[in-house]
Amino acid sequence: MVERSILTFSSFFIVLFGGVTSLRDVKLLVEPETVIRGRTAALICSRDMQGAPLYSVKWYRGNHEFFRYTPMEEPDLRIFGLPGIYVDMNRSNGTQVLLRRLDLGLAGNFSCEVTAESPSFATQIATKFIDVIALPTMDPTLQANKDRYQPGETLSANCSSSPARPATNLTIYVNEEPLRSSETSLHQLENGLFTTRVNVELKVTPGLFPGGRMRLECVASIYDIYKRTAKLDFFTPETDPRPERITLNGGAARCFQNFFLIFLLLFLPMVACQDFGQLYDGLIDDAFQYYDEESENNALLSLVGG
Ligand SMILES: *[C@@H]1O[C@H](CO)[C@@H](O)[C@H](O)[C@H]1NC(C)=O
Ligand SMILES: *[C@@H]1O[C@H](CO)[C@@H](O)[C@H](O)[C@H]1NC(C)=O
Ligand SMILES: *[C@@H]1O[C@H](CO)[C@@H](O)[C@H](O)[C@H]1NC(C)=O
Ligand SMILES: *[C@@H]1O[C@H](CO)[C@@H](O)[C@H](O)[C@H]1NC(C)=O
Ligand SMILES: *[C@@H]1O[C@H](CO)[C@@H](O)[C@H](O)[C@H]1NC(C)=O
Repeated sequence: MVERSILTFSSFFIVLFGGVTSLRDVKLLVEPETVIRGRTAALICSRDMQGAPLYSVKWYRGNHEFFRYTPMEEPDLRIFGLPGIYVDMNRSNGTQVLLRRLDLGLAGNFSCEVTAESPSFATQIATKFIDVIALPTMDPTLQANKDRYQPGETLSANCSSSPARPATNLTIYVNEEPLRSSETSLHQLENGLFTTRVNVELKVTPGLFPGGRMRLECVASIYDIYKRTAKLDFFTPETDPRPERITLNGGAARCFQNFFLIFLLLFLPMVACQDFGQLYDGLIDDAFQYYDEESENNALLSLVGG
């Protein structure tokens, strides 16, 4: 019984207003919702008038009206000066507003308010938050305290982002694994932008060099709008020092090296022809190590010389 009377009641309404019911579905679409400082945003106000004539569309930032469309007035488009708001009149009409040169301070709630002439100036409002952001002007910089590490040493590094708003998210990765134990700090500048910096400390282990390389990366991002990466590669540390090299030093070491060279010269022909197994492997290893040390010394000398 109750349902039936509601049905009858609404049919009565439709008859009374000749099929014209109230304005509905006022929606504000913003493209894009996150605007890069200095760029443009389009605000589109859609609605279902249900056949009623439009009286006005008013546009607000916060509580301040900045633009109005009233089709029955002359001119039909009016701008109310609001500092920092630049309406492109050529691209704005009863449905949309194009805002140019948006600056950071303009981030906020924007609304469109639609009024229908009938019935009795029904009004609906829709609101969207528009964010205005500033991207960093430079890529992130990643610095480490050394360019080569031995297992057991501690790598300490920092990554920083040039000023941005909101603050960039900085994440440090070691071989594609994000490092959790990092320490991030923000610094706000006078112009409202933030510099971000992250410090990490990492105990270096041989396992961090799969395929002979350890890659440190710093990814700076702002939402899914900005993403830049800085990279540092570290190569396999020299193998663990052998007992001989620790216990022998000075003259004794030189003596060992000379002895070793003679030994090598004597045995090399045999090594070349025969499979010496373990001994052979060890010899070549040692020979390489000796060579490394020599070239490192040369490099040091040339540094001192230059
Ligand atoms: C609008 O168009 C007119 C003529 O086409 C042009 O002179 C004017 O600069 C335009 N204004 C804007 C804000 O683009
Ligand atoms: C308003 O302008 C946009 C583009 O400038 C256009 O696509 C749209 O049809 C216009 N709407 C009205 C009601 O004039
Ligand atoms: C924007 O509107 C939402 C909900 O209407 C409100 O929670 C928020 O505080 C407003 N933001 C600003 C900057 O006024
Ligand atoms: C971190 O950055 C500062 C400069 O911003 C530099 O002086 C310092 O040496 C860096 N630390 C490391 C471990 O790279
Ligand atoms: C930073 O990361 C957090 C967590 O993932 C996210 O909620 C936030 O929106 C990000 N901020 C920026 C500026 O990208």
